[in-house]
Amino acid sequence: MADILLGIESSCDDTSAAVLRDGVLLSNVIASQQVHKDYGGVVPELASRAHEQNIVPVVSSALAKADVKPEELTAVAFTRGPGLLGSLLVGTSFAKGFAYSLGIPLVEVNHLQGHILANFIREEGNPVREPSFPYLCLLVSGGNSQIVRVDGPLEYTILGQTIDDAVGEAFDKCSKMMGLGYPGGPVIDRLAKEGDPLRFSFAKPHIPGLDYSFSGVKTSLLYFVRDRMAEDPDFMENNKEDICASFQKTLIDILMDKLIKAAKQTGIREITIGGGVSANSGLRSRIEGRRRRWNTYLPPLRFTTDNAAMIAVAGWFRYKAGFRTPLDIAPVARISEL
Ligand code: KG4
Repeated sequence: MADILLGIESSCDDTSAAVLRDGVLLSNVIASQQVHKDYGGVVPELASRAHEQNIVPVVSSALAKADVKPEELTAVAFTRGPGLLGSLLVGTSFAKGFAYSLGIPLVEVNHLQGHILANFIREEGNPVREPSFPYLCLLVSGGNSQIVRVDGPLEYTILGQTIDDAVGEAFDKCSKMMGLGYPGGPVIDRLAKEGDPLRFSFAKPHIPGLDYSFSGVKTSLLYFVRDRMAEDPDFMENNKEDICASFQKTLIDILMDKLIKAAKQTGIREITIGGGVSANSGLRSRIEGRRRRWNTYLPPLRFTTDNAAMIAVAGWFRYKAGFRTPLDIAPVARISEL
């Protein structure tokens, strides 16, 4: 009999459900919340309420698209954390109730492991290149910037991580500061394509080891824009493409320097990226540019930002390894380990 697993993701502002049959993706439905756009960032209270409204229709739609009835499911995997607690509570409570009512196992997933395993999302008729173990993952999102060594689907070691802001936060906060809107990453990415990345330079951090820091470059951009605007109020409007291209290049330089260092130190040449910022076209082409030195694996764009397909895949590995989560489990906003 086939094993059919339902995955649920609700860690931030996307409500998502996915169905896997024997490890192959049948459906992946995502309801992205538009309500935050006017606020320049995710409003936790509004996110929880929107998850409450979305969760039942999203799960129904994922099951319908997969042509699977609830009684055919053999397990439910869900994001336990890290993320916004109110958002996580909605997905966790739903997953617990659903698994309990069906009498099937519940499997908790660390959201970050989902991003790290995004290259293992298998789809019918769409073969994927999967990295072999051990590999390095540059995990870059709105909440994280880490270099992770992956020795197996359940074995992770954080080699380096940000000591302050995440790189996605730097994109988002700087975009807001420049009046370009939220989320900032996609906007800066788009404008950067039309600009000169060498025109301006911004301060880079000097952090030992494999850790990152992005708060200094953010401040560097803030002072730069403030000083230039004092001389010319139209400076921002007339130069936004070059500013975005130069700022994005600085962030990518910082990310790549440590990733190259990690690859040298570990001798690992299997390299992947994951998380929302892995959608960045500049970062993707810089990683691809090292193809002669590394075996590179970029997740398809649709699996870079939050989605339940990656949660289902991470849950699948855990389910197969015998992991089961008790029904008295609670979500956790912060998890320091992987
Ligand atoms: O992984 P994700 O969907 O959510 C979490 O943080 O968990 O990542 C969202 C982040 C935001 O900071 C957004 O600005 C960034 O990913 N992002 C991008 C791009 N698309 C999304 N950053 C740079 N370039 C992009 N194309």
